[in-house]
Amino acid sequence: MAVAVEVFLLVAACTLAATIAQPTTVRFADVSKMYNSSQPEAYAGFAELMYPLTGVAAAQPPANPEAPQQVLVTYQAPDEVMITWFTGKPQTTSGSAGAKVPGAEGRGENVVSYGSSRGSLKKQATASTDYYTQDYNISPALNISGISDAQYNYTSGLMHCARLRNLKPNTRYYYTLGTNRTVRSFKTAPSVSRFPFKLGHLADIAISVNSTETIRKLGLEEPDLVLLNGDFAYANIFDFNGALGYSAILTKGVLFSQQSRWDTLGRILEPLVSRVPTLASQGNHEMELQLDGSMFKSWLTRYGSNLPYAKSRGTPFYYSANVGPMHLVVLSPYVDFVTGTPQYDWLVRDLSSVDRAVTPWVVAMWHAPWYHTLVSHFKELECHRLAVEPLLYKYGVNIALHGHVHAYERSAKVYNYLPDGCGTTYITAGNSGVGLNTEFADSASLTRFSRASSYDNSTNCTRPLTTSALLVYVAGGKICNTTDPVSGKYCPNSQPTWSAYREAAHGFVTLDFESPTRAVLKYFRNLAADRQPIETVPITRDLSCPNQARKSRAMERQMRAVHSSVHSESL
Ligand SMILES: *[C@@H]1O[C@H](CO)[C@@H](O)[C@H](O)[C@H]1NC(C)=O
Ligand SMILES: *[C@@H]1O[C@H](CO)[C@@H](O)[C@H](O)[C@H]1NC(C)=O
Ligand SMILES: *[C@@H]1O[C@H](CO)[C@@H](O)[C@H](O)[C@H]1NC(C)=O
Ligand SMILES: *[C@@H]1O[C@H](CO)[C@@H](O)[C@H](O)[C@H]1NC(C)=O
Ligand SMILES: *[C@@H]1O[C@H](CO)[C@@H](O)[C@H](O)[C@H]1NC(C)=O
Ligand SMILES: *[C@@H]1O[C@H](CO)[C@@H](O)[C@H](O)[C@H]1NC(C)=O
Ligand SMILES: *[C@@H]1O[C@H](CO)[C@@H](O)[C@H](O)[C@H]1NC(C)=O
Ligand SMILES: *[C@@H]1O[C@H](CO)[C@@H](O)[C@H](O)[C@H]1NC(C)=O
Ligand SMILES: [Fe+2]
Ligand SMILES: [Fe+2]
Repeated sequence: MAVAVEVFLLVAACTLAATIAQPTTVRFADVSKMYNSSQPEAYAGFAELMYPLTGVAAAQPPANPEAPQQVLVTYQAPDEVMITWFTGKPQTTSGSAGAKVPGAEGRGENVVSYGSSRGSLKKQATASTDYYTQDYNISPALNISGISDAQYNYTSGLMHCARLRNLKPNTRYYYTLGTNRTVRSFKTAPSVSRFPFKLGHLADIAISVNSTETIRKLGLEEPDLVLLNGDFAYANIFDFNGALGYSAILTKGVLFSQQSRWDTLGRILEPLVSRVPTLASQGNHEMELQLDGSMFKSWLTRYGSNLPYAKSRGTPFYYSANVGPMHLVVLSPYVDFVTGTPQYDWLVRDLSSVDRAVTPWVVAMWHAPWYHTLVSHFKELECHRLAVEPLLYKYGVNIALHGHVHAYERSAKVYNYLPDGCGTTYITAGNSGVGLNTEFADSASLTRFSRASSYDNSTNCTRPLTTSALLVYVAGGKICNTTDPVSGKYCPNSQPTWSAYREAAHGFVTLDFESPTRAVLKYFRNLAADRQPIETVPITRDLSCPNQARKSRAMERQMRAVHSSVHSESL
């Protein structure tokens, strides 16, 4: 580490811009043509309206309501996972006072039997149980088409949660749930610090044949850990008849959320997430505001409460975990984040205590991206970026992973919109299965103008966001309209140099961490052959960057001094 300091003091490598390759854009039209897809260039709404999972057995509830379903493995530590599953029929009620407790199916089956050989599941872990309700009270006076019933409340099935402790790292375990004899298996993650380590990422999943294809293809890559980065079932924009009902929310402020979608999503994820440990974040579609003012209730019950947030003194919304050679920091733009808030203070404490000798790689994930060039959600999170980006730079976060924008985009190493060899690589991959975003923010020639109102024709630039804070729900509710440092406008004139590759197609990414200085990003497109990445890109950790050094107080002081000078140079 001393070597790195000396090199740095001599060369100040951090001020050198990264070598920038020619930016690449692959439009949806090109992808469709390549694969002779019958799909129109773009479509309004959701892929699943076009490519629904109707009749697909894996999406249906099991015939026996006592059979375990929606099995999910959540990473806790290299020697510990949480296994959750549901039994029983979820209940919806209308017309009269409804169910508030789960049905009796599945009770008394509260145990996971497991072992490292299929024939000997001698260990047992007892589960606790949980469930939740979601209540709505929709006035008939609102006259919302598709919602004929005034009230429509949901009580979930019974969720079982079992902690399996003292596991061996990097080891396959076999398990059965309750009295059901189906043997499943998962592999524990490698020990902390160990290479190689393969990370998979899903975001904006939804329920279409495109989602199940993404889930299947990611499974073929056999990741050690899968991140579920927000926007799960889109329950909040479907009404009780399963129709897309966003406009009712927008125009009438109505609360409703088709909860059965969460159950269906749990079933289509199961083939992957019952085999591979996961960690999750929440997206805007998980807000699901309730009559009592609560939010994120389904996500918190099903995913958030099982996360290992207590270990990092975080919350389900922001927490960190060491997995293999990676320190993962999960953030939330949906919980207050500016200086002086608990999330900000937590982040400073967390990042400043990372030991790069233990976890050389620091990866951040949160749902909505800063660095992307699609019209959809363009610069939506500028207030968040302005508050948090200096911290990510100071502490040398290597890679940030996002969804929210339904496309794939990879940045060069960047800081404050300028290519920077010591900056972060931002990856947006919210293209797991929901309808794609296909319009780029910067160029008339790339734009179909399907939403002409999004554009200012006098500048060929997408208009600054005016989206209501309730819908975007960036905590604090502010929209910051910053200008592009190159064009001086809200959007750049062409694909900016910090945007290395962007593509409107369904797919996913994996990251192979190979050594303390080299990771490899692979982007897979659903319409391409299995196991054939469209791009394979090394991401390096440059040890001459002061923000990559193992932390010490002396180092911190040096970095602070030098960063302020680097900062003023580049601005
Ligand atoms: C698409 O159609 C063209 C022309 O018929 C053919 O050459 C090409 O192989 C097809 N591509 C795929 C992926 O089927
Ligand atoms: C056991 O679980 C599997 C998978 O959930 C299900 O297909 C099967 O029907 C269950 N068996 C019984 C006896 O319930
Ligand atoms: C739904 O829940 C709300 C709030 O708890 C309650 O007022 C309403 O009566 C419930 N409706 C039914 C059908 O249970
Ligand atoms: C209710 O909405 C329907 C269309 O969705 C409309 O035809 C009807 O006139 C509306 N009724 C009232 C009372 O507004
Ligand atoms: C979604 O899946 C359908 C059916 O397989 C396919 O025709 C379509 O091209 C897919 N869309 C994308 C963007 O991959
Ligand atoms: C902007 O230009 C596009 C393409 O020429 C056109 O379709 C659209 O109507 C224009 N919008 C406005 C608001 O003038
Ligand atoms: C906007 O783009 C159109 C179409 O490419 C072009 O004709 C026009 O000159 C551009 N306007 C500006 C201000 O760049
Ligand atoms: C952002 O721009 C929009 C559209 O020009 C404007 O309505 C809004 O007030 C601006 N917001 C801020 C915080 O400047
Ligand atoms: Fe989102
Ligand atoms: Fe989304």
